[in-house]
Amino acid sequence: MKDERAFRKELEETLQLNNNTETEPFRQQFHLTPPKGLLNDPNGLIQWRGIYHVFFQWMPFKTGHGSKWWGHATTKDWVNWELLPPALAPVQDFEKNGCYSGSAVVRDGLLQLFYTGNVKDEYGNRSSYQCLAVSEDGVHFEKLGPVISQPERYTAHFRDPKVWYEAGSWWLVIGAQRDDKEGHVLIYRSRDLRKWEFLGPLAGKGVTLSESFGFMWECPDFFELDGMRVLLVSPQGLEKESYQYQNQYQTGVFTGSFDSENATFSHGSFQEMDKGFEFYAPQTFEDEHGRRLLLGWMGVPDQQEDMHPTIKDGWVHCLTMPRELLHLQNGKIAQQPLKEWKQLRGAQQSKDIHVTAETVEWTEWKAIVAEINIEVEEGKSWTISWRDYLTMSFDAEYGVFTLERPDLISGEPAFRTSRIEEIHSLRCYFDRSSAEIFINDGEHVATSRLFPRKQEAKLRCKTHESIMFQVDAWELHSFQWSG
Ligand code: FRU
Repeated sequence: MKDERAFRKELEETLQLNNNTETEPFRQQFHLTPPKGLLNDPNGLIQWRGIYHVFFQWMPFKTGHGSKWWGHATTKDWVNWELLPPALAPVQDFEKNGCYSGSAVVRDGLLQLFYTGNVKDEYGNRSSYQCLAVSEDGVHFEKLGPVISQPERYTAHFRDPKVWYEAGSWWLVIGAQRDDKEGHVLIYRSRDLRKWEFLGPLAGKGVTLSESFGFMWECPDFFELDGMRVLLVSPQGLEKESYQYQNQYQTGVFTGSFDSENATFSHGSFQEMDKGFEFYAPQTFEDEHGRRLLLGWMGVPDQQEDMHPTIKDGWVHCLTMPRELLHLQNGKIAQQPLKEWKQLRGAQQSKDIHVTAETVEWTEWKAIVAEINIEVEEGKSWTISWRDYLTMSFDAEYGVFTLERPDLISGEPAFRTSRIEEIHSLRCYFDRSSAEIFINDGEHVATSRLFPRKQEAKLRCKTHESIMFQVDAWELHSFQWSG
């Protein structure tokens, strides 16, 4: 076992080296970003006693993956933030190679974190333990050790417990790999959060699917959204297709209904959740206003991660903005930015941009960190580019939306192409090194990092026909940090 105090001292020293946020061109302003090191999945999302807790997978000492910690930040309003001491450090034998992803619930006045203890032996063989840590103050956590061990017929790819309360019981879903290398989600039930009964697989090949659907399902979440049951999951190993599954690994939902008596789920086909380059391992929670909120990792494992130019500044990756999930009448799920984001709005400008078979640049617009809402005429094809780096285009004839940016290795154009029948609006949130584009009021979302060399806010619109773009734009202020 490592000495936790020495660990934390090393961390304090590392963080002190990092006070040049102003000079870093890609340092995010309204996204949760690690002060140093690598960040991946959001963990333990919860609102407790009015305070939103956002934990995250964190490698504080290097910009690569490894023995993860749980970083910890809190906010009351999504604008003023506090960075707290890391909640979990990988110091015990049952977690020595990482306190992997998990979730939070409150019971008996305690904040209770469920996470995966990742352990590798000297030959690289993995074991996984599902562990519990509790806190009275939401800052300091006491580890109670493993509460669930690996079931028979499953490999050690068994991680990311998500816990919730429903119908008089505690429930837990977890990502797993069956021993024939099929991705599954498993479900458990408990009365007291300590003793867990294994109820079997909830979804996957041979359970709810007849065909194989990836070799591992990571970060499951299972919740009710306005009468509809949703299994949110990040499957690994789907084959790339013309209009979907274009990232290294995917994230999406199965929707249907849950029979809690028999712990069974019936569902329709998988719907991918994002149309951009970076979106993975999201988690949701219900806040004290009854909203179902989602945050994701704005990164994808094994996808050009070591090519991010922020690595030379000592950090890599960030979380997405929080989004509210809504159940639409057509059975789909929309993601919308929180109304709290209006607090970040600064100076505003509006413009009607009329384009006739040419390229028009909005030269008056100067802010790189901005919200830009664009209403477009339906039935027309167009291209909109941002900072000469990211291009969104719509082909009305074929109903195809394309996002383009330079490949992070070759610099050649790279594409993410998806089907969208019609586009009437784009709500774009641009941070220094990211774009989140909410299409048609969040019916579709495209999330991507961007790393333009020039610090110029260039918005350009192009079409081959006559078309009007109505644009409303705001400069956005930064998060305020303390702690
Ligand atoms: C998803 C994931 C999880 C795991 C964590 C480790 O990105 O691979 O399955 O718990 O990251 O950091």
